[in-house]
Amino acid sequence: MPQAILTCDPDSVDLARHELKEAAPASQIENILSPGVLLAELGDSYWEFAEKWHQQSPIFVRHLCPVQTILPLHSAERDLDDLVQAIAVEFNELIDPELSFSVQTRILSKNYPLKPFDVNTALANQIQESTSAPLDVRKPLQIMSVVVAQNPPVAYLGLSPTMLNISDWAGGMRRFMHEDNQISRAEFKLLEALDLFKIELPVRGVALDLGAAPGGWTRILRQKGQYVTAIDTARLDARLKGDEGIRYLHMTAQAYLKDEPDFFDIIVNDMRMDARDSARIMVSYATYLYPHGTGLMTLKLPEEDRQPILKQTFDILRKAYTVAGARQLFHNRSEITVYLKHRER
Ligand SMILES: C[S@@+](CC[C@H](N)C(=O)[O-])C[C@H]1O[C@@H](n2cnc3c(N)ncnc32)[C@H](O)[C@@H]1O
Repeated sequence: MPQAILTCDPDSVDLARHELKEAAPASQIENILSPGVLLAELGDSYWEFAEKWHQQSPIFVRHLCPVQTILPLHSAERDLDDLVQAIAVEFNELIDPELSFSVQTRILSKNYPLKPFDVNTALANQIQESTSAPLDVRKPLQIMSVVVAQNPPVAYLGLSPTMLNISDWAGGMRRFMHEDNQISRAEFKLLEALDLFKIELPVRGVALDLGAAPGGWTRILRQKGQYVTAIDTARLDARLKGDEGIRYLHMTAQAYLKDEPDFFDIIVNDMRMDARDSARIMVSYATYLYPHGTGLMTLKLPEEDRQPILKQTFDILRKAYTVAGARQLFHNRSEITVYLKHRER
């Protein structure tokens, strides 16, 4: 049976399992290698299966890679030689020398003496020397995935085109540099969503930030040249004071609706409230989103009944929008992020 490794938030394993079953009814989770990292048996070949998720991305599974070889591990020194050897024997022929590649290693066992960097470097050198494929760690077209597990102590190896990995980041772990003037960790959520959904903000666009406090998203939107109307009953961080590109309105999103809102290029919504209520508010705001406009919102999920609540929320949103993307991002906690376009687009 073909195997693959799926990665999701540790609290969303049941939802990831459901997505796996929906895409491939004959599949099953064989082992949980570490929290949120699942070894699965696929009914279909990896390529057939991954192509389905390439066409229609899952929400909760954020990364997928094939398992083509399983290598037993012994000791750090021997393992590195064995890994280099296994790549040479099993994968050199499969690597397209015309396409850029990268090696992505994840080490799931805490005390394992090798670091991902050691493995990446040794394997990338081997691949470059023997295939002449160009190494490109930023935008590789093919990825050699290595997952080092503890129970049993083995390395799972698999090669795939990057577009069949769901995310081009190892395990979907999209990381950003911390900035000194960062206002909230929520900033990473917005950065990750803009990157994942490939959202281009218009030059000197106008943005509405619902539930803006303390102002992380507002800061990022300003950094990207947007004029921001920030709505919240809580105050914005003092560092945003004096920025004339921010209009802060101390009120609820519901109250601003009654206050003749402007029109916007992008409406973002990170309000802490029931996902369905937040969706209803977003639908009311659709009138104030330009036809080319973009909506981006987080949906806070409860611990129980997440699936039916999510379905109800999407049904509400579809009254006004097309759901152009939805994902539990690496920086999302008990929530997912949804990318919206006007329904008629
Ligand atoms: C997670 S925080 C937003 C963080 C923000 N995105 C950032 O980057 O700093 C959620 C915010 O939603 C606000 N909120 C909740 N209900 C709201 C409502 N009805 N109208 C406006 N804001 C609301 C809360 O006051 C809170 O500040």
